[in-house]
Amino acid sequence: MSRFFSSRYANAEPYKPGEQPKGQTVVLKLNTNENPFPPSPRAIAAAAEAAGRVNIYNDHMCRDLKAAASEYFGLPAENIMFGNGSDENLDFAIRAFADDGFPLIFPDITYSFYETLAGLHSLPQVVVPLAEDFSLRLEDYRGLKGMVLIANPNAPTGLARSRAEMEAFIAEDPERLVLVDEAYVDFGNESCVPLVSKYDNLIVTMTFSKSRSMAGARLGISFACKELIDDMEIIRNSGNPYNVNSMTSAMGAAILQDDEYTRKNCAEICRVRGWFSGELRALGFNVLDSRTNFVLARTDKIGGKELYEALKARGILIRHFNQERIKDYNRISIGTEEQMKLLLENIKEVLK
Ligand SMILES: Cc1ncc(COP(=O)(O)O)c(C=O)c1O
Repeated sequence: MSRFFSSRYANAEPYKPGEQPKGQTVVLKLNTNENPFPPSPRAIAAAAEAAGRVNIYNDHMCRDLKAAASEYFGLPAENIMFGNGSDENLDFAIRAFADDGFPLIFPDITYSFYETLAGLHSLPQVVVPLAEDFSLRLEDYRGLKGMVLIANPNAPTGLARSRAEMEAFIAEDPERLVLVDEAYVDFGNESCVPLVSKYDNLIVTMTFSKSRSMAGARLGISFACKELIDDMEIIRNSGNPYNVNSMTSAMGAAILQDDEYTRKNCAEICRVRGWFSGELRALGFNVLDSRTNFVLARTDKIGGKELYEALKARGILIRHFNQERIKDYNRISIGTEEQMKLLLENIKEVLK
């Protein structure tokens, strides 16, 4: 650290992304919940077309993309905004609404970027433990004032609450701001987006990284009432108004118009998840009931870190979290059936 580094960031603890293969031969990469299928051919064509026009600035309000999203999600454009990935939208929301008197409130086991952002902005945090079985007990948040961050489905557990449960929670205290992070919603859960027009204390975020195969293009979407969106737009437009580039914007609109492609891929990933979970259970693993494109699993036969390391030595990356309550587990992204078969063969060999 240089002597010029601002004391404002004294509490910053950079996020640790899943490993990106470097050097060694990686046979299987199942550690960052990427989609095994390429983006829709229509989205690729749209990006190529947009690339020919990058001599002019992109539309900083993403109007075409917003129109496509407005039609797809059935909400007016004023209730929608975009970020350079969901992570950026989370940052906009946290910067806009949390402060010393309005803490961030989130579960002990959840997406670790919430804690990263809390540190970056030196925000007070209230951490609420999940139940013993890793389920989210919404009643434990009763009486807490601040901005609640709920990944639904949660990561890395994969467990989810229904829309009705979330609605009761949002309605229970209008002074509490609830951000529902729906990064994995397309893999089997109900979205809270339809609640946005009913509640002015709700923000829903989604990403195009998972169900829409656009992780490397960086596109996230936020939904909220107009007032909340306007506040977050102040933050966005005061930093980098051109945050979503033309290629990404064009891809996003095209993929929303090619929903059949997304639905087909999600259905296949869910099918493989069901089959793979069954196979793991047959090997003696405890597998949480996932509504996402990953599973969290453990076995008494080998420690979480040991399994992760043994597979890594074979060129297979899965995710191990060195965190107290989940250190015996591994998070495994769902790839194609062929990839998961190869993984299973390797797990069986390691267990021998
Ligand atoms: C719960 C959750 N929210 C948000 C994100 C970030 O998504 P994006 O790639 O759009 O920044 C992730 C990524 O893994 C995630 O797991």
